[in-house]
Amino acid sequence: TVHGVPSLSAKVVGSFAYLTIKDRLPTILTKVIDTIHRNKNKFFEEYGEKGIEAEKQAISLLSKLRNELQTDKPILALTDGREDAESWNQYLQRHQGLHGPDEESVSWFKSPWLYVECYMYRRIQEAIWLNPPINDFDVFNEGKTKSYFESQRAIMALCTHLEGVNKSMKELSDSELQDNFNKLLLVSLWGNKCDLSISAGQENSQKASPLESLDSLQPFILVDDSKSVWLTLSAQRPAQSGKEPAARVDIVLDNAGFELVTDLALADFLVSSGQAQEIHFHGKSIPWFVSDVTAQDFHWTMKQTAAANHRWMSKVGFQWMTYMKKGVWSYHDHPFWTQPHEFCDMAAEAPDLYPTLQKADLVLFKGDLNYRKLVGDRDWDFTAGFHTALRGFGPAPLCSLRTLKANVQVGLQIGQGEKLTSQEPDWMTSGKYAVIQFDSPKSE
Ligand code: F6P
Ligand code: MG
Repeated sequence: TVHGVPSLSAKVVGSFAYLTIKDRLPTILTKVIDTIHRNKNKFFEEYGEKGIEAEKQAISLLSKLRNELQTDKPILALTDGREDAESWNQYLQRHQGLHGPDEESVSWFKSPWLYVECYMYRRIQEAIWLNPPINDFDVFNEGKTKSYFESQRAIMALCTHLEGVNKSMKELSDSELQDNFNKLLLVSLWGNKCDLSISAGQENSQKASPLESLDSLQPFILVDDSKSVWLTLSAQRPAQSGKEPAARVDIVLDNAGFELVTDLALADFLVSSGQAQEIHFHGKSIPWFVSDVTAQDFHWTMKQTAAANHRWMSKVGFQWMTYMKKGVWSYHDHPFWTQPHEFCDMAAEAPDLYPTLQKADLVLFKGDLNYRKLVGDRDWDFTAGFHTALRGFGPAPLCSLRTLKANVQVGLQIGQGEKLTSQEPDWMTSGKYAVIQFDSPKSE
């Protein structure tokens, strides 16, 4: 119970954390093993004996990992000697014995859920890295590209919409501009439904046009601070502030596939409407939580969109690549995003990342895992304030765009959470509800 509020953990039998460790994570591991095996002749055999041996070794390490998890063995130190391994191992040492007098070791079912879930993905990567020549193989690539293609129609509809907005941009009044911003913010919010980790790798793509369902989804938004987000952006506009146009928006990405396209569409609007001059995207440096964006996914998605046999998709895709070339957009990854830390520890743990975010006028955090890290994945009262739960994390005005997939939620009205629990016991984990939650360091 560091900071007074206990971390979510699989210790609580029957909790979503417990079910995740017991069922969902082993399923994901089994899928990873199967993917490596199925791709044997495509990726591994071209390296001859060495490739075949690497494939076998990786599979055996992953089966061992699955066994450790299922039998609640102690968490082991990382052995791949990569740059970030040391920081993981130190974290492990610090937590040894922290979670109760009768627990000498950190283990899968007894330790904080956030930590062990992140650790599993890092161990998957260790199994790959320890087995060259295949050590740039992304075990989740297949699923991510598949979900992009399965969302093709929704992507077409979104690109067509974006093109229409961009064309009429000059004629839009301020309130029309705000309406259009809201629409794309909502599309990006609901894009977060499409992650592949909640579904344990099952198909989970966007089929219908994302714009048509926005009104019917409105009642499922539990906290809607979109107005503050808009005010933050419009306060940056030179006409109102008298300042140089320097508005910078950072987007901490979550999933590849349809969600990434919705984030790029929002970023496109921010630039073409003059709300932002620069967009900085932050992705993961290793394959993460099944569907999270890596550099490879980021560039692939733009190229794929530009190459599509659809007029507006391809036009929009080329525009995105041009933004990248000109430096209006940029992509960054930092090892901090694939570590188990809560964001309130960012300034200490990643002293080079925090000041980067401080340069932003607004930081958007996409998705459930980012939310868990923002509020420390703790068992907060539903009515605890978002600002309080951030525990000092505030590099810039920030907003979380998240569909709920874990038992943590703050900033609700008195009785709101209890009412939902009585009506729909799984409201926090079904991905059906969402929040747009804003906090500004200046609001203290
Ligand atoms: O809780 C379900 C879960 O799979 C968590 O493991 C994780 O927090 C989340 O979903 C991933 O969702 P997102 O892609 O929105 O971060
Ligand atoms: Mg994700």
